[in-house]
Amino acid sequence: MTVLEAATQEGIEIPAMCYNREAGHFASCMICVVRDRSTSSLIPSCSFPAADGMDIITDDEETELARKTALELLLSEHVGDCEAPCRIACPANMDIPLMNRCIAEGDTKEALEVIMRDIAMPATLGRICPAPCEGACHRKDIDKPVSICLLKRYAGDQASIVTDRKKSRDGKIAVIGAGIAGLSAIWYLQLKGFACTLYDSKPLPGGALRYEIDEKRLARQVLDKETSLILDTGVTYHPDTRVNKEGFEKIIKEFDAVVIATGNFTEEIGEWGLANNGKQVSVDKNSYLTSIPNVFAVGNVNRSTRLAIRSAAQGKEVAFSIEQLLSGTSPAGEPKPFNSRIGRLKKEEFPVYMKGVSSEKRIEPSDNVSGGFSKTEAASEARRCMHCECLKPTECILRVMAHKYGASQRRFSLEDRKAVNKLTDHEIVVYEQGKCIKCGICVRLAARKEERPGLTYMGRGYDVEIAVPFNESIKHSIKKAGSLLAKACPTGAISLKDGETKKSEKYE
Ligand code: SF4
Ligand code: SF4
Ligand code: SF4
Ligand code: FES
Repeated sequence: MTVLEAATQEGIEIPAMCYNREAGHFASCMICVVRDRSTSSLIPSCSFPAADGMDIITDDEETELARKTALELLLSEHVGDCEAPCRIACPANMDIPLMNRCIAEGDTKEALEVIMRDIAMPATLGRICPAPCEGACHRKDIDKPVSICLLKRYAGDQASIVTDRKKSRDGKIAVIGAGIAGLSAIWYLQLKGFACTLYDSKPLPGGALRYEIDEKRLARQVLDKETSLILDTGVTYHPDTRVNKEGFEKIIKEFDAVVIATGNFTEEIGEWGLANNGKQVSVDKNSYLTSIPNVFAVGNVNRSTRLAIRSAAQGKEVAFSIEQLLSGTSPAGEPKPFNSRIGRLKKEEFPVYMKGVSSEKRIEPSDNVSGGFSKTEAASEARRCMHCECLKPTECILRVMAHKYGASQRRFSLEDRKAVNKLTDHEIVVYEQGKCIKCGICVRLAARKEERPGLTYMGRGYDVEIAVPFNESIKHSIKKAGSLLAKACPTGAISLKDGETKKSEKYE
């Protein structure tokens, strides 16, 4: 029995990556290192035999540092984007590739549900957002970025969502300000089951969207449709109600949590007793908690930049922080997972990314009056998306470990990365060499399953690679064990073509 097996048997968790019960141990990744107290040396627990009287430290500063360094070495030559760059650039972290897939398949309702998991007012933002996502789109390296913002607008205009607010949870929340940050916070809080009360100084909801943006840019019926959807979730709404210092103090006493989303910082807000620098309310950058317990501030009131999508994103994130607070944990905000990134595409990668993707030019809407896509245009434009995200973004152990140990991909990174290469000829799996950590699990499992010729190590030293012998196609090399290998591979190097099923998750 190995140290890892002995620990597992006792319910003690040691991280492992290149170890696989069926394939056996190989000791290549060094994530499983533990410390032998008698010699003070680090040992790979997956392959080191357990012995009577052993005294093992499974977690201390030294083992953590060793694991982090091992991860950083693996990441230095890792070639892949965990999430598509468009999604990383979107302040709301919207699942853009999935939205595109739904629109390409003609499922606009599903597309809207995907969007509204992260963006509460898509038709509105589809008209005013400067689209930082498009600036990061890989397709831009080849010709022009996918028209993400107009696709989002198309789904927001064409589909509608039926809110199903079944849950009701303890917790009364006051939101001050009916601009995009406040409305977004309300949407996500209401859907989580919390009862919101909204105070706004203006007669109609929308804040700066209604009172500052030109109607030609943002038609008021679009704004009305989206604000009504949010308020119709059962919000207690007090329009024409200016909150002053006394009102604020009363609200703090009456509610379990308060969200300040008033837009601009004013002298009056400066007197509410919140820490501020005279221009903005000071907040914790992850949770948006202010200096007053249970009081949060989102949108322009906590910063000077004016970008509606950032305010919308903060509204969503604060709902997460409030849920943490009301569930008894201290609010820390939404977790930000590790992301491997490849940067700009290389020229030789264009054909790899364009395989099976529409080579049409970026479509400009024919309807110049409203500026929106028709159904055919939207589907064609969505088919230009190259789906740059990894197929195993949540199951990949490398990503999970990199997040857990705070590993940096840059620490040992090479000046010039290897080119992305994808073997796609297999019926159900894709093999991406650049994501392989050379653990050999697939080689050993394929051999056990009597795959001929299976997979093998090729090359020497640093250049060693897992490959198909004799340059055969992967389709001929792996006939029966495709899904087994995809499941066993600890990274996204071998993954199912369908990826992880995400479509069933609803926006709730
Ligand atoms: S294999 Fe893992 S670390 Fe690499 S891109 Fe995919 S999810 Fe990220
Ligand atoms: S091609 Fe698609 S997935 Fe890739 S960055 Fe652009 S929109 Fe995102
Ligand atoms: S492709 Fe094979 S060797 Fe590479 S990470 Fe996956 S299982 Fe390990
Ligand atoms: S070296 Fe032990 S799990 Fe990789």
